[in-house]
Amino acid sequence: MGSAVDLSVSLGTFSLANPVLAASGTFGYGLEFTPFVDLNRIGGFCTKGLSLKPRMGNPAPRVVETAAGMLNSIGLENVGFDRFRDEKLPHLQMYDCRVVCNFFGDTVAEYEEMARALSTLDRVDALEMNISCPNVEEGGVQFSADPKTVEKVVSAARRATDKFLVVKLSPNVTDITVTAKAAEAAGADAVSLVNTYVGMVLDAERAVPYLGNGNGTGGLSGPAIKPIALNMVYQTSQAVSIPVIGLGGIRTAEDAIEYIMAGASAIQVGTANFFDPRATMNILDGLTDWCRDHDIDKIESLRGRAWKQ
Ligand SMILES: Cc1cc2nc3c(=O)[nH]c(=O)nc-3n(C[C@H](O)[C@H](O)[C@H](O)COP(=O)(O)O)c2cc1C
Repeated sequence: MGSAVDLSVSLGTFSLANPVLAASGTFGYGLEFTPFVDLNRIGGFCTKGLSLKPRMGNPAPRVVETAAGMLNSIGLENVGFDRFRDEKLPHLQMYDCRVVCNFFGDTVAEYEEMARALSTLDRVDALEMNISCPNVEEGGVQFSADPKTVEKVVSAARRATDKFLVVKLSPNVTDITVTAKAAEAAGADAVSLVNTYVGMVLDAERAVPYLGNGNGTGGLSGPAIKPIALNMVYQTSQAVSIPVIGLGGIRTAEDAIEYIMAGASAIQVGTANFFDPRATMNILDGLTDWCRDHDIDKIESLRGRAWKQ
């Protein structure tokens, strides 16, 4: 038997037992996955995006399968801050993994308030700001669309929290390194990327958009997006000094290794949880096997390796 592989990773002040996190919106509040996943083994998970008040989300249909992926328009349905604190978080006390609270707001002030509220919760290890949301004060343009708005909203959250603050970037921009740098300048501790790509599916028989949200668009995720997302993770890890968390289409341990080699300090598994609820565990086991097979003692030594030969 070979020696144990060290899968631990550190993202500045934030350490993880291993680099495998479940992505927001694909893993509920963690508890839903306990029949399939040992929450003491994975590095952690990101909660469904939380807002101050509960949200009902968009009318159905809210998801549709596409070639090697899916399109969703959930509309940020969530239980809201109070119910998360009172009904979900207490049950997470018995597990070891990191709890990362994904959150959003309609205004800069709401992001700030949410960051402050989440900071009061001891069991919450880190915050992940989803900035791919409409800014109601700017006519519904996404916060992530403009680096100045990114700086404004991230600075506001930064003022409100001492917790490790991850900013989750939208890939629906001309150059993602510009928004990554804006988040870094505003005090983000790390960036995570990517969120979903805007797309559309039409129902040709009825000549209408498939999704029920009114405008017909949704967010594309899954294996279909992996090469594009991987390139963005590579570009971003060259552009910023803070850690990068990579995601987009990760399905296997090899996918995760590619992201780490492109510069990611940790990875997230999203859509794969829908077609294999044990995906995070399988990827974790696969990482150990991969490292063993390749004589790697410490997974961190692979970070950025694709450009270090
Ligand atoms: C059904 C669904 C719901 C999602 N909800 C959120 C969310 O609430 N907040 C967020 O930041 N990202 C959300 N995402 C985006 C994922 O976390 C992830 O960034 C994206 O799906 C790309 O990763 P993947 O290809 O591994 O799924 C959601 C994705 C899906 C498929």
